Amino acid sequence: MTQLTIKNLLSQYTPLLHHEIKISGWVRAFRSNRFIALNDGSTLENLQIVVDFEKFDADTLSKISTAASLEIVGELVESAGAGQKIELVAKEIHILGDNFTEDRDKTILQPKKHSLETLREQAHLRFRTNLFGAVFRIRSAVSFAIHQFFNENGFVYINTPIITGADAEGAGEMFGVSALNLENLPKTENGEVDYSQDFFGKKTNLTVSGQLEAECAAMGLGKVYTFGPTFRAENSNTTRHLAEFWMVEPEVAFNNLDQNIDLAEDFLQYVIEYVLKNCEKDLAFLNDRQAEEQKQKPKEERLELNLIDKLKQVTEGRFVRLSYTEAIDILKNSNPNKKGKFQYPIEEWGADLQSEHERYLVEKHFKKPVVIFDYPKEIKAFYMKLNEDGKTVAAMDVLFPGIGEIIGGSQREDSYSILLEKMKAGNISEEELWWYLDLRKFGSVPHAGFGLGLERLVLFVTGMTNIRDVIPFPRTPRNAEF
Ligand code: 4AD
Ligand code: MG
Repeated sequence: MTQLTIKNLLSQYTPLLHHEIKISGWVRAFRSNRFIALNDGSTLENLQIVVDFEKFDADTLSKISTAASLEIVGELVESAGAGQKIELVAKEIHILGDNFTEDRDKTILQPKKHSLETLREQAHLRFRTNLFGAVFRIRSAVSFAIHQFFNENGFVYINTPIITGADAEGAGEMFGVSALNLENLPKTENGEVDYSQDFFGKKTNLTVSGQLEAECAAMGLGKVYTFGPTFRAENSNTTRHLAEFWMVEPEVAFNNLDQNIDLAEDFLQYVIEYVLKNCEKDLAFLNDRQAEEQKQKPKEERLELNLIDKLKQVTEGRFVRLSYTEAIDILKNSNPNKKGKFQYPIEEWGADLQSEHERYLVEKHFKKPVVIFDYPKEIKAFYMKLNEDGKTVAAMDVLFPGIGEIIGGSQREDSYSILLEKMKAGNISEEELWWYLDLRKFGSVPHAGFGLGLERLVLFVTGMTNIRDVIPFPRTPRNAEF
């Protein structure tokens, strides 16, 4: 028999009223030696258990304290009290795991408010809190909605390798993968590490993107997407970067840049709508939490929209689309630029956009999601399609309020000769990427795709502010605990 969960129970309790049921969970609170708030993680809501202390022995009662795990058999009844529709009158209480009280008091399970930093240090226990329960149920719903969107739209789900021999994506520093003994590395005659003796007979790394392999799949299957772990050894200790994150990468044969932007927009709106429809309780909780936090802030720093309204706003309108050239014009003439408020002043066309610029455009100028396209070729990757002007590439970035870049993508260079030229110019090895070039030799077609950082989307949807709080066990510089 499948376990009954509190979520199931609360959503369809009528047939079970006045029946005996069994439920398991953790104690969130035990009030007046009479009411247990039990939570099993299936929902934010607790089930109230009514305990008649005369029916239970002192040992059992003494073990019912916050964090302890219980299995309870009892009769389900309508609740006379305010705050809940039903409650369970306990007939049997089995203590599954009691508390090491002294140790518990040093943990976040001790019933009081803890900072997010403290919760992070006990990431193994933070699943037990209302906040992280809500965040990780929503993360799961986001992942599900992503698969559903692509499935409904005829995409084939592809798994691209995690260990890769190609380090040419240029997306950031890579983590090496080796079976060599680091204490005693084999060397070649000229003193370099001899990777020919390594497991794969060559130097390998953890992938920074599945794109190049996804392109191979799209060149046969048409519409594909990958969804997997991605690794970047860049030493950026920000609230937006992880060394290990999850990336979703669709790749579509015959799509141009406009169609790629349409896909990104439809995709993001679909996933956010799914969460609005299916995660009401958790979202309402996060919405209230954010509202409370906002009250502590000075007026001028407060957000203009609450969390739920912000999500609705993104699903309602279309995103703003503007070329890099237009973006530079706006930024050049912006107040912060004229007043020298940008750390990186915008002086001329060609400048790379920093997150301060992206956020100005999204949060101050347009106040909605913005897609910037046609970037200078010098600041973008070698595989992006060269536009007819010869100086820009068919790249696009989707920028979200409060987040900055959430998606990066492009139409891909499908001309063999131009790609080869760009690889040569960028010092990218033809021997290594022979297979990628091959795609342009046999039935090459226009194609496009993008990458979404899952955690950045979960940040946006939950209103959390640090990326370390939307992945169960964050990997960041100097931190790989758990
Ligand atoms: O813009 P990026 O580097 O694009 C690519 O890797 C392309 N190969 C994607 C493609 O066209 N198939 O990364 C894509 C997205 C970013 O927009 C961001 O959301 C996320 O991945 N991202 C990170 N998220 C968390 N931590 C990091 N260190 C990230 N680096 C990128
Ligand atoms: Mg990018």
